[in-house]
Amino acid sequence: MAAEIQRGLEDVVALESRICFIDGQKGRLIYRGYDIRELAERSTFEEVAYLLWYGRLPTASQLDELTSRLVPLRELPPALAREIDELPLSAHPMDILRTAVSALALVEPEETRPGPTSIGGAQRLTAALPTILGRFHRRRNGGKPPEARPGLSAAAYLLYALLDREPTELEARALDVALILHADHELNASTFSARVTASTLSDLYSSITSAVGTLKGPLHGGANERVMELLAEIGNPERAEEVVTGKLSRHERIMGFGHRVYKVEDPRATILREWSRRVGEAKNELRYYELLRQVEAVVHREKGLYPNVDLYSGSMYTLLGIPHDLFTPIFAASRVVGWTAHVLEEYEDLRLIRPTAKYVGPTDLPYVPIADRR
Ligand code: SDX
Repeated sequence: MAAEIQRGLEDVVALESRICFIDGQKGRLIYRGYDIRELAERSTFEEVAYLLWYGRLPTASQLDELTSRLVPLRELPPALAREIDELPLSAHPMDILRTAVSALALVEPEETRPGPTSIGGAQRLTAALPTILGRFHRRRNGGKPPEARPGLSAAAYLLYALLDREPTELEARALDVALILHADHELNASTFSARVTASTLSDLYSSITSAVGTLKGPLHGGANERVMELLAEIGNPERAEEVVTGKLSRHERIMGFGHRVYKVEDPRATILREWSRRVGEAKNELRYYELLRQVEAVVHREKGLYPNVDLYSGSMYTLLGIPHDLFTPIFAASRVVGWTAHVLEEYEDLRLIRPTAKYVGPTDLPYVPIADRR
């Protein structure tokens, strides 16, 4: 009997994993057994990276060892730095990222063999992505490339690399929480594309290149950039109702809302809403936060939809001084940990991922010589 088609593979269970659990009905997100709310409150991005890669929370010495290994890996090989400096300044930073990940494999081929040694490549990419983004962004602003800055945490370094200034403690902690929240999310589209690539025994860098290209789409990681475009279109609070109901009446999607798995509020949205308010209060700029609260009320009333991770991240990044086209790259700088954890898990228990399609086209057509075709 022909299997029922699940468009978009909706609700299809494709594999077993020990990395991440999402309870879409209850709005719960778990990394390797730990609730995201507790990790966002008490952990750091480096500690969560260790947890996702190794499957357990690190001891103090294990965390120190990982951190001291990641810092020198922030440096780019000169050949890659030169290649990034040749790329057009008009390029979207996600395209820069995709190109640089591919190029890094050419310049450092030793860590591209599929298998457990790919943890080296995973850590290399996680440490280098902020430098790649910082080098490109500073160049388009006429600035100098970032230095490795051993004293800065991963979140503080990402802000320093992008903004060419030392972040405040609050700014660094706000981004650290955002990096924790974005680090993994089970078989989302970009992680799935990384696992499909790895399942052919292709290398880690090819798998991450697939994932970067997938995350770029506005229905996935690109939504946070478009939320800010919506806020710019609304302008002032009085127009929120009119703009949002107008879009909904035209069956347009409101970016930052809805989710394939969560049927209630995305727990990451809950945490980012609070951090967006805290940073807004500290910067005496609550305009975005208040506008988003209004948009939330209209979308929920009209469509019963809840905010997802992308609704508040962009407003917080804007308050941190980060330009819109770097929002999805920041998502990638965090999700690279989840992507690589899933690639390593695929290598451990590999099965070629290859679904089938229901063919609905014609069959047995006679071949007509070109001279006789009309
Ligand atoms: C991320 O998968 C992950 O885990 C992803 C992610 C991660 O961490 O990796 O969580 C990150 O990608 C979050 C999602 C970011 N994308 C957006 O915010 C874009 C806007 N959202 C939608 O495009 C949509 O909600 C999706 C793509 C996220 C989910 O879409 P589905 O599951 O395919 O749902 P659907 O398109 O079938 O919509 C069901 C109904 C439809 O109504 P009807 O046409 O049946 O009347 O809900 C409506 C949709 O029109 N709907 C929306 C909507 N999302 C769904 N209507 C208006 N605005 C929206 N955002």
